[in-house]
Amino acid sequence: MQIDLAIVGGTGLYNFPGLAKVEKRVVQTPYGPASDAITLGELGGKQVAFLARHASGHSIPPHRINYRANVWALHSLGASRVLGVNAVGGIRADMAPRVLAVPDQVIDYTHGRITSFCDDGAARVEHIDFTEPYSARLRSEVLAAAGRAGIAVVDGGCYGATQGPRLETRAEIARMRSDGCDLVGMTGMPEAALARELKLDYACLAVVANWAAGCPQGDAAPEISLPEIFAHLEAATAKIPPVIASLLA
Ligand code: HPA
Repeated sequence: MQIDLAIVGGTGLYNFPGLAKVEKRVVQTPYGPASDAITLGELGGKQVAFLARHASGHSIPPHRINYRANVWALHSLGASRVLGVNAVGGIRADMAPRVLAVPDQVIDYTHGRITSFCDDGAARVEHIDFTEPYSARLRSEVLAAAGRAGIAVVDGGCYGATQGPRLETRAEIARMRSDGCDLVGMTGMPEAALARELKLDYACLAVVANWAAGCPQGDAAPEISLPEIFAHLEAATAKIPPVIASLLA
């Protein structure tokens, strides 16, 4: 099967509206089950696959997601372009709540996750080039699509991937800022690296849900409010379907 675009939905995006000829596939992989059944459907005559990274009831926390099964499942269905949608906290001044961004770099602070298909019993070990962690082609396609749809998207930024599920301390975010991180999220890695191992065109569409701890005013910043996160996510996530429709047009 030819899939024009696979979408991995993060917090706040558990299904993709407007698909025609919808079919659900439960995919078995050598790494176990994917987070959820994969929804296949058509958008504007193009074939789309959608997978809810945390499962439809948000039951799988970031550190327990079977990233290998998810990426493998999409690849095995015939996907070659994968857009990961990830909720994030904003660190840089222009990454305010409700902003959409297409990061261009990653720093991985996660631990204890299985980060590679080159693991127990793999036929051979491969050291992928990860200088540019995201597909330049898919990044520019997403940015152009957002432009055509009239949706503002920040071009670039460094995604710092943390372990979660707790949010970070003020000191952790201060360190991440000085490391060069602009955004912080819990699910961007190892998904991007696994996608590269399978030679998929992979990009991240980050949805800013909140200011990261201690941002933007330093010590004066209030604690992060979960109801506010969900309100911001809902508003920002509503901008994603038009971007994807334009990407597939
Ligand atoms: N930190 C990490 N992950 C997140 C955040 C955050 O502040 N907001 C949404 N996902």
